[in-house]
Amino acid sequence: MNENQLREQIATIGKSLYDRGLAHGSAGNISVKLTDGWLMTPTNSCLGRLDPARISRLDASGNLLSGDKPSKETFLHIAMYRERQTAGAVVHLHSVHAVAVSCLDGLDSGDVFPSITAYAVMQVGKLALVPYHPPGDESLAEAVRKLAGKHHAVLLANHGPVVAGSSLDAAVNAIEELEQTAKLMLLLRGQAVRHLTAEQVAELNRRFPN
Ligand code: 13P
Repeated sequence: MNENQLREQIATIGKSLYDRGLAHGSAGNISVKLTDGWLMTPTNSCLGRLDPARISRLDASGNLLSGDKPSKETFLHIAMYRERQTAGAVVHLHSVHAVAVSCLDGLDSGDVFPSITAYAVMQVGKLALVPYHPPGDESLAEAVRKLAGKHHAVLLANHGPVVAGSSLDAAVNAIEELEQTAKLMLLLRGQAVRHLTAEQVAELNRRFPN
């Protein structure tokens, strides 16, 4: 896809996320890697009403070349790309069930979700919890950077999920799976659950490496 097609794709996917209640207000941001930099959604923009022409264009050092002022989470996105050379897109949301889980006490910080479904294992994998830092703070980007080499999906404590994918479609599919898994986890709280076994998880990781 050329840059203009990627701009259109960001706006189309942003609207789809917004229309289905996965993004609200000015929460969330989307970036896509280009050969010599990134496209990044502007700060304080609504993902449901993005103007493709005003999406921020950053150079390979993260400097703004054109478009509106980029997201305050730009450092966080770039930290993901720096640690994950195969990443083609990064999506951050404040989707309600994932945020609810991010506020729970006593989570396993290296693997937030119990292994309840095959698709959660295949698309989210081991979800790491990033300790709380204020939105847009460089300390948050640094905390993400420390985990990004091993985890393409992380959950910012008391904030929301961040997912990297080889393409924007892959990143969005994975963050939607993450949101659904968070919803299932909350639905199943207090119930007797049959988890996937370690062998079943290992087999999924062999068949569908992520
Ligand atoms: P921006 O509006 O700067 O992209 O920030 C939104 C957000 O989700 C912060 O975490």
